[in-house]
Amino acid sequence: MCDATITVQTKNRVKPLGDLFGIFFEDLNHAADGGLYAEMVQNRSFAFSPADHPDYHAMTAWDVVQRGKSLCACHVESHTRRHPNNPNYLVLEVLQEGPGAGIRNSGYNTGIPLQQGAIYCFSMYARRLTAGESPVYIRLESMEGTVYSEVPLTIDSHGWKQYGAQFISTATDFSGRLTVIAREKLSLAIDMVSLFPKDTFLGQENGLRKDIAQMLADMKPKFLRFPGGCLVHDGSLDEKDRTSLYRWKNTLGRPEDRPPKRNSWGYNQTLGLGYYEYFCFAEAIGAKPLPVLPAGYDPHHKRIVPLDELEPWIADALDLIEFANGSPESKWGAKRAEMGHPEPFGLEYLAIGNEEVGEPFFERYAVFHRRIKARYPDIRLINSASPFAAGSEYDRGWKSARDSGSELIDEHYYCSPEWFLANMHRYDQLDANGPGVFLGEYASWGNQWGNALVEAAYMIGLEKAPAVALACYAPLLCNADYINWKPDMIWFDNHRVYGTANYYVQKLFMKHQGDMLLQTDMEGFAEPVTIPADLTGGLEICTTYARVAYSEISINHNGQDRTVGDYEAVEGKTSYRICETSGDFTLRFTACKSEFCNAVSECGGQGVEIRFAIKDADNYMSFILGGWQNQDCFIRSVINGRGSDLTQSLFSMEPSTVYSCELSVMENRVFCKVNHEVLVETICKPQILEPLYVSSGIEEASGDIIVKAVNVREHTVSAMLRLSGSGHGMHKVDIHQMRYALHEENSFEEPERVKPVYSEEWVTGETDERRFPPHSLTVLRYQKTEL
Ligand code: AHR
Repeated sequence: MCDATITVQTKNRVKPLGDLFGIFFEDLNHAADGGLYAEMVQNRSFAFSPADHPDYHAMTAWDVVQRGKSLCACHVESHTRRHPNNPNYLVLEVLQEGPGAGIRNSGYNTGIPLQQGAIYCFSMYARRLTAGESPVYIRLESMEGTVYSEVPLTIDSHGWKQYGAQFISTATDFSGRLTVIAREKLSLAIDMVSLFPKDTFLGQENGLRKDIAQMLADMKPKFLRFPGGCLVHDGSLDEKDRTSLYRWKNTLGRPEDRPPKRNSWGYNQTLGLGYYEYFCFAEAIGAKPLPVLPAGYDPHHKRIVPLDELEPWIADALDLIEFANGSPESKWGAKRAEMGHPEPFGLEYLAIGNEEVGEPFFERYAVFHRRIKARYPDIRLINSASPFAAGSEYDRGWKSARDSGSELIDEHYYCSPEWFLANMHRYDQLDANGPGVFLGEYASWGNQWGNALVEAAYMIGLEKAPAVALACYAPLLCNADYINWKPDMIWFDNHRVYGTANYYVQKLFMKHQGDMLLQTDMEGFAEPVTIPADLTGGLEICTTYARVAYSEISINHNGQDRTVGDYEAVEGKTSYRICETSGDFTLRFTACKSEFCNAVSECGGQGVEIRFAIKDADNYMSFILGGWQNQDCFIRSVINGRGSDLTQSLFSMEPSTVYSCELSVMENRVFCKVNHEVLVETICKPQILEPLYVSSGIEEASGDIIVKAVNVREHTVSAMLRLSGSGHGMHKVDIHQMRYALHEENSFEEPERVKPVYSEEWVTGETDERRFPPHSLTVLRYQKTEL
């Protein structure tokens, strides 16, 4: 018999769970081009440029091939362009006859992935520059030139014309090439050379990679946030610039007419996966669309549209709503209909800004909010709460959301598992009558089971917190050969894809979200295990990439004063240990950054860094002043190499300026003063490992009761689960359980090492004795059966 009981009050609905768990797609890590977007040709319109990436040029991913005696010349031109948006095209001149000369594309990763028997759809714009009718040959080939399929095409037009062909590959080869060659002399202009598998997600043209899209669809997300992330708000303010902020109108129309753009993650984006496609994908997988628009402000480079020039940006927001929801008779609704979707997309949510910091954003947000609400009062607007879990910019975001009446506010944090364990009840007391929380990006720095397990426990808290409305893990997708950011939820290359442990946790929570949260009472469980923050350890000056003069260093440690002296931090020099601390201390110093060291490139964005509570290179606390592009001041905790920014405020260090600084630790409180003002301050919370994290909900249509339980501890927990009020009939119980050692993870080699295991049982009456194994997530779905 168990001492502990979990009572699910099946008649006591606590809050609607609404659209709680969704996904966030951002085109980083080649998530779109070379990822979800099924185009197999890289640089299809010869548009790559050093503006996208220093190594890029118009022929990136293309080779010139000259077989046998065949000779050719290739160059990129732009004076008779096919479309004003698309300047470049290739001129191919075959100069000497032979087995074939021309170009070939190497796709992404190891090449163009070909499956034996699969159909591929080729298209290309071309015009003949010389007389004659000799064909070009389009081939699927191996890297060595073995032909898997070939189609002759006669380019008969002297003006731009689209040509197409279909291939069936005779071999499976993941390093394939697409080759365009001619055997006889000719001269051609070529543009927009494209190859898609015929078997895209839902068979759509200009479609999505089926394997990746299906993994997303299988999650059953309630919403899709897109298209970023930093992608949205990093760039120039001129929408015509290649490097502009993400402007949705650039992504409409025929894919071949969309302008080439730099992706701010350091590559090129074709925009072939554009707003229309995002809306269609969201609809296809049953997720509500949740677009994010820039607000005429780039916080990374402090580019700011003057308030009196904000009108086009506001128009972008209003037009987007019309594009999504307007009738086909409206201007933007007509564009949607023209693209193939006369019915509205039913947009409910719109985010303005991403991880915004600084007053200029919030000044502009208020204008957006007022204007959008005046026209579309029912659109639920999402404000932005900085990239930090606390601090001045986080507070500024919340104040703006409250002042403006934003329905939601977007919080982001990437923190250690220990941070999550210390913050399980972060939202418990938040007033449900204020702005709701949209946790738009979070992750615990890892794809091991231990990470996913802690995230699962945290998600129980998200379900239960009255004010949390939406949440999505980030980032979603990563092409393993083009990593901008990790961890990520789903990994892929050109022919394989696997979900991480985190993916399977997210999927379980989405598929078994339920519609209403039920009251869950827990009794008789063991006490939580509390692990206090340990602030003892080494104290060091750690600036190693900037030239900073530290002077008048002194420390008061447990009431004793000691003068330390001066220290000059120079690039490349190792850190300087001041002492070991145990107990309270205040470190005082002045800091002055060299006049030669203001630009980020010169100093790696580093200013003052003092580490304290140092245990080793992977475990310490840090006070940073003038960090991240010389924009911020942080208190950071690093545990097992995984950082958590505990708090932040804006701060830039001027060169040749002396700052008087103080770092104090008093019990579990850490605060830093600059020029005698407290700039950042935090309480280092203990990790609390509760005996079991449990939530329950009901799915209204089926009447199924869903119970989720996470055991983060090392011992099995047994409990009597009582479905109070569910009657005395029989229940079929679907059991989905994940139980692994904390270090286990999935990989291309073992893609399903960590995944839910399914079983079913039958129980009679309202009680069910359950054992929750160590380090496990259990999802129980009780279906009432009429006998
Ligand atoms: O998810 C990766 C990045 O993290 C996002 O672009 C940004 O919003 C955050 O900083």
